[in-house]
Amino acid sequence: MTFAPSLENTPPPAPKHVAIIMDGNGRWAKARGLPRFAGHQKGAKAVRAVVEGCQELGIGHLTLYAFSSENWKRPQAEVNDLMGLLRLYLKRELADLHRNNVRMQFIGDFDALQSDIQDLIESAQWKTRGNTALCLTIALNYGSHDEIVEACRKLARAVEAGTLRADAISEDLFRAELQTAGIPDPDLLIRTSGEQRLSNFLLWQAAYSELVFLDTLWPDFTKDHLAAAVREYQRRERRYGAASA
Ligand code: FPP
Repeated sequence: MTFAPSLENTPPPAPKHVAIIMDGNGRWAKARGLPRFAGHQKGAKAVRAVVEGCQELGIGHLTLYAFSSENWKRPQAEVNDLMGLLRLYLKRELADLHRNNVRMQFIGDFDALQSDIQDLIESAQWKTRGNTALCLTIALNYGSHDEIVEACRKLARAVEAGTLRADAISEDLFRAELQTAGIPDPDLLIRTSGEQRLSNFLLWQAAYSELVFLDTLWPDFTKDHLAAAVREYQRRERRYGAASA
């Protein structure tokens, strides 16, 4: 007689893809009487911890909202600080990330970025393209509305050119035109700092994501917060519109 293995004690799987809106750097700095830059600096350190945490938990994809298409509205000095930090991160962390088998990808509109940052993006993507442990996607000058409108334009051009029938446009075809083509949709989307909105981040892709909002400010975010959010995700029943079991 053979017995099927019991699934009762098997913990639910960890999310394959975690996306994070890293919020609260400014408030973290303000609470300490420090300039906003200090919050962003500490926030960049938290990025390092969360990348390690994902690898320890076996999460395959991590997407971070580093700079939104709306963030240009901040004072020029803060924009410069943020770009400077990204530049530093890409220069300093690339070797380590590569050694740890992390693949780096970027989404967003890079045309408005300084050319040396565009070059750093290009070389990080190229150098790490064969890595398989974790795919780290950084959203830089990213906005979902722009991304969706651009996907529509590409499909409309194909229809105009007579190479695509409007009726043939499906969800899969549309998805393939998004900047995240090839990346699975996030299973878990975390936002820190107590704010509870998506702020133009992965609006199509997050249709069925489990949302976890934490009061923790991003610079205080640790591997333990990540693990707690993953446990919360594992407690939830994902139904995709179906009735509960
Ligand atoms: C939101 O906090 C955070 C940002 C707009 C920038 C996120 C950037 C980093 C964490 C540092 C660099 C990133 C990488 C990938 C190396 P906020 O400034 O809006 O905070 P507030 O709402 O408290 O003012």
